[in-house]
Amino acid sequence: MKNLKERILKLKKEKNAVILAHYYQESDIQDVSDYVGDSLGLSQEAMQVHADIIVFAGVHFMAETAKILNPSKKVILPDLNAGCSLAESCPANLFQQFTQAHPDHIVITYVNCSAEVKALTDIVVTSSNAVKIVNSIPKDKPIIFAPDKNLGKYVMEQTGREMLLWDGACVVHEAFSFDKLIELYKRNPDAQIIAHPESETHILKTASYIGSTAGMIEYVKTNPGNKFIVATEVGILHKMKLEVPDKILIPAPSNEDNTCACSQCGYMKVNTLQKLYDCLLNETPEIKVPADIMKKAFVPIERMLELSR
Ligand code: 13P
Ligand code: SF4
Repeated sequence: MKNLKERILKLKKEKNAVILAHYYQESDIQDVSDYVGDSLGLSQEAMQVHADIIVFAGVHFMAETAKILNPSKKVILPDLNAGCSLAESCPANLFQQFTQAHPDHIVITYVNCSAEVKALTDIVVTSSNAVKIVNSIPKDKPIIFAPDKNLGKYVMEQTGREMLLWDGACVVHEAFSFDKLIELYKRNPDAQIIAHPESETHILKTASYIGSTAGMIEYVKTNPGNKFIVATEVGILHKMKLEVPDKILIPAPSNEDNTCACSQCGYMKVNTLQKLYDCLLNETPEIKVPADIMKKAFVPIERMLELSR
């Protein structure tokens, strides 16, 4: 393993490549990456890359977003099967029919969607700026929000705005068991529950803090509390443990009877250290986006980046 990590670092230098990774990637991948972050941070970082190659250790829509933001770079993804249940829930042809049925609505999409769906969008959001961006829309303007209905409901509750929601969800955040969470909390009454807004409303109601992955890490760093039950994909614990080694971090339990007693994203986990090495060595699979889609999808992402400043 050590040898493989060293070979990746050497190859990265030789090929003038950078590795950008999401917090849900396995720990070994995070350890060899130049930048580890949430969806907003990764987009901002991708835009500034000067290296020739971006190895995107995350899922397909993230790598696609990096390509749209920095089209002259070669963007490679360790495994093209790294999808996302949210992106899959929203096929572009059906979404187009939906938007055409509501032509007076402004179209806001969560970044977890395909480039084709982004090309049909007015403004893209991430979990760290969705509330702020919806609040910036004039009050009389009706809004379509896709594809995550759970994030959509949370934004509606935070902003007091009605929105027309697409019926998509994250399988990882919908897998949390409310009953097991309450049992766990009863055994740890001194803990605070923190949750990602892709979780369902009944989970979010138990939380002392709700935010993006980067927001959750910042919360455990700055909050004086010593124990946290973390309701998001378990990969985040690697970075959290590095940031707060003396605090107690417990993953929120899933409905499934799995060995980790946590919720894992199967899409994120198809990337492995070996596949990362192979993809860097062979410079494939490469992310390609048709030029017309790239041009259209760039506009709502750029709007998001402007509105996040
Ligand atoms: P953030 O890291 O932007 O909070 O997104 C979480 C997620 O589910 C990414 O797929
Ligand atoms: Fe998609 Fe959920 Fe996995 Fe994130 S955690 S990539 S939203 S399935």
